[in-house]
Amino acid sequence: MPHIGLKEGVIRRVSGTERQDFRDHLLRLSPKSRRSRFTGSVSDLFIEQHVDRLFSSEAIVYGWVVDGVIRAGAELHPVGGPLRATAEAAFSVEEGWQDTGVGTALLGRVLRAARNRGLSRLIMTCLPENARMQRVARKHGARLQWQEGDVHGLINPPVPTPISLWREAMEEGEGFMNALFRPPKVAAE
Ligand SMILES: CC(C)(COP(=O)(O)OP(=O)(O)OC[C@H]1O[C@@H](n2cnc3c(N)ncnc32)[C@H](O)[C@@H]1OP(=O)(O)O)[C@@H](O)C(=O)NCCC(=O)NCCS
Repeated sequence: MPHIGLKEGVIRRVSGTERQDFRDHLLRLSPKSRRSRFTGSVSDLFIEQHVDRLFSSEAIVYGWVVDGVIRAGAELHPVGGPLRATAEAAFSVEEGWQDTGVGTALLGRVLRAARNRGLSRLIMTCLPENARMQRVARKHGARLQWQEGDVHGLINPPVPTPISLWREAMEEGEGFMNALFRPPKVAAE
């Protein structure tokens, strides 16, 4: 059955107790998508170490969960000096669900999270041939810069408002309820 995309699943925060489910999602990416996600070919061990670092850091991790399985993810990593004004974001959507609006929705969530934490710069890095990621970034107003063989998308999130804070709180509540009643399970494929 063809995948219908975004409405098939729910976007929610992924907690440290679900790190193995997030790791399994990244390991399921095809070699091409894995290379696109990490802007180069990486081993399974690299992914395992990446996930360990991810959940030991201040990063915020979102998952798009379909029938209890994480099929897409977004990572927001604060970087830089003490003011933490900048964060890097990275996205991963499994093949069967690419091009169905999930990446666009995940960037929207990450952008709101960055905004509500007072971050003034969001950076995304992708390969020059990754037209899909560039399109998703542009749709959210990113400026693209070609630098040293990579493409960097820059967004300056607006300042938070009561509405942006309220919206995130509502989404978090919805995601929490979803996680409570439909915890991640092992993927069949
Ligand atoms: C890049 C990625 C995150 C995008 O997520 P996605 O869910 O596939 O993207 P969406 O469906 O939300 O949007 C894709 C957009 O790109 C467009 N697109 C698809 N192929 C394209 C191409 N070859 N050239 C230009 N635009 C293209 C689509 O038409 C759509 O734009 P539209 O909504 O205006 O029609 C996802 O494909 C992915 O995980 N790829 C592998 C890992 C990766 O590249 N990560 C990014 C680096 S961190």
